[in-house]
Amino acid sequence: MAHIEWSEKLEIGLAPMDAIHREFVDFANAVVAADDAGLLPALDALIAHTRMHFATEDRWMLESNFPPPCHRDEHRRVLEVMDAVRGQVVAGDMALGRRLAQELSPWFEQHASTMDTVLAAFLQQVGYDTTGKAAPATDTALPA
Ligand SMILES: [Fe+2]
Ligand SMILES: [Fe+2]
Repeated sequence: MAHIEWSEKLEIGLAPMDAIHREFVDFANAVVAADDAGLLPALDALIAHTRMHFATEDRWMLESNFPPPCHRDEHRRVLEVMDAVRGQVVAGDMALGRRLAQELSPWFEQHASTMDTVLAAFLQQVGYDTTGKAAPATDTALPA
């Protein structure tokens, strides 16, 4: 299974973004590690965290007048895929949930090293202060 190992190459250098990304890795790895009974709760926790993650970055983009819309579009598409896969898992298709889990690692490495890196550089360049500007925390926790 595609367990995500946190490494320097995932470190972007914008502390609030890196903090959210470390959490994302934990939630994604919980999906990878889940057995059939734990798959749906782990997926729900990941989706809730990902909504917060993406809403936070979307807010930073809007408030800093980050021009290209493609980053927000990708966030929206990824959440649509996660929601669609969740529906299939509820219907009993565990294999599709496992397939999503396998795709999370390559997707995240690609997204962090391209779109998120560009966004972080832009925010630092224009002096946008991310302090206290995360989307509201979700009430989810990592599944036990
Ligand atoms: Fe991100
Ligand atoms: Fe992003």
